[in-house]
Amino acid sequence: MMEEVIQLKNVTRSFVQGDSSIQILKGITFTVTKGEFISIIGSSGSGKSTLLQILGLLDTLTTGSYFLGGHDVSHLDDDTLSHMRNQFIGFVFQNFYLIPYATALENVMLPGMYTTQHTKDMKERAQALLERVGLADRMQFKPSMLSGGQQQRIALARALFNEPAVLLADEPTGQLDSKTSVEILDLFSEINQDGTTVIVVTHAPETARTAKRTIVVKDGVILSDGPTQKE
Ligand SMILES: Nc1ncnc2c1ncn2[C@@H]1O[C@H](COP(=O)(O)OP(=O)(O)OP(=O)(O)O)[C@@H](O)[C@H]1O
Ligand SMILES: [Mg+2]
Repeated sequence: MMEEVIQLKNVTRSFVQGDSSIQILKGITFTVTKGEFISIIGSSGSGKSTLLQILGLLDTLTTGSYFLGGHDVSHLDDDTLSHMRNQFIGFVFQNFYLIPYATALENVMLPGMYTTQHTKDMKERAQALLERVGLADRMQFKPSMLSGGQQQRIALARALFNEPAVLLADEPTGQLDSKTSVEILDLFSEINQDGTTVIVVTHAPETARTAKRTIVVKDGVILSDGPTQKE
C-alpha cells in the first residue's frame, strides 16, 4: 500500500482583521503519498504561502484536519509543533534565511542543535550534505561571501539535516537567475529521487514543470490537482 505522508481535509485559515475575520484558505483537501514531487501554483495572494506554512507546521489551520506521517497535527501546542517540525519537515525559503555570522557548516548544523546528536556526528553529517549540494570547498564561508545560488544550496543542506520526510520550498528560485535556478531544481529532483517527498510553491514555469503533480490554488480553494501538463 502507498504510504500517505500528508492528509489535509477541509482546511481553512482565517485571519482576524479589526472586528471581522478574513478567510484566506476556504476548504483545502488533498493527500500526498511518500515520494511525490508536487508544485503548488496560482496567482499572487491566492493563499499558496499560507498553505505551505500550515503544511510546514509554521502556522496552524483554523478548521479542518491535518495528518502528517499518520499523526494528527491539526491543533498542537507550540512545543509539540516545533518538535514535529524538526522531525518531519525541511523548509527552504525564497530569501534563504541563513544566519549571517555563522559559516556554511554552522548553518547546516543548526537543526541538530535541538537534538541530542554529538557535535562530531553533526559536523560530519553537515559536511556530507554540503558536499552533496556541491559546496565542499565553501564550508567555512559566511553567507555574505557566497552567491545566491550557493546560499540556497546551504539552505537546502540545512533543510535536509534531520532527514525530513517532507521537503517544502516557497519560491526557492525566486531570487536566482535562470541557469542557477535549473541547478537548484536539479538538486530538488535528485533529493526527490532519493525518496524525499517534495512540495514547491512557485511562479516559475520551469519549477512547475519539474514536479510530477501540480496543484493550482485560486482564492483559497483548489482549482485543479493532477499530473503536471507538459506542453
Ligand atoms: N498573517 C496574516 N494576516 C492577515 N492576512 C494575511 C496573513 N498572511 C497572509 N494574509 C493574506 O492572505 C492572502 C494570501 O497570502 P499568501 O501569502 O498565502 O499568498 P500567496 O499565494 O503566497 O501570494 P504570492 O504569490 O504573492 O506569494 C493575502 O491576501 C494576504 O494578505
Ligand atoms: Mg507566497
